[in-house]
Amino acid sequence: MSAQKIVLGNEKDLSKPWVQTAELCHQGSLRRWKNRHAASFFYQQVISDKAQRDWFSDYLLRSEDFMFMVMLGDQAIGCIGIRLRGGIWDVYNVIRGVSSIKSAGFMSLALNMIIKFAQGVRSISIECHAVVGNSAISWYFKNGFEVVCARDGRIIMHHQVGRPSS
Ligand SMILES: CC(C)(COP(=O)(O)OP(=O)(O)OC[C@H]1O[C@@H](n2cnc3c(N)ncnc32)[C@H](O)[C@@H]1OP(=O)(O)O)[C@@H](O)C(=O)NCCC(=O)NCCS
Repeated sequence: MSAQKIVLGNEKDLSKPWVQTAELCHQGSLRRWKNRHAASFFYQQVISDKAQRDWFSDYLLRSEDFMFMVMLGDQAIGCIGIRLRGGIWDVYNVIRGVSSIKSAGFMSLALNMIIKFAQGVRSISIECHAVVGNSAISWYFKNGFEVVCARDGRIIMHHQVGRPSS
């Protein structure tokens, strides 16, 4: 259940990210980051405060849907969701929200922790969908994903199990 708090990694190690499932207090960051990066996603409407709260209430009721906050010490620096969809893990809502933390590999480390966690829950395929032209597709390649197909303006990628990320 996503309502159950899950923590992965070491909260005390300030040199590496750790992750935890999102809580009520993270809704503001989730909404702000998603609105700021709307162009990178399929859903491009501005998310209101109410829409965010409605989404979060529904999220808490869904099993096998985990919205992780990527943490550095006590600061939330990004988010990565993973949910069961059609018998496959779907990685979604991947955002580094804090621009002052440059590409330092933290999001990649967090993604790898989350993939390991999901494989422990159910050892099934992992995919993600990206808007055609999103430069983050190269980031997914670095993290062990490869393109399966493109359709309806989206690129569908699968994670190659066992392929280490760079
Ligand atoms: C994708 C995203 C989460 C990556 O965050 P990050 O903090 O840069 O991630 P990391 O530090 O783990 O990335 C490390 C590597 O990926 C590369 N990289 C990161 N973002 C990239 C991008 N958009 N395009 C190409 N390469 C990218 C970095 O240059 C770095 O490369 P290096 O190891 O060779 O130096 C961030 O760019 C982001 O929030 N993008 C906007 C939202 C988005 O598009 N999400 C994906 C939707 S499908």
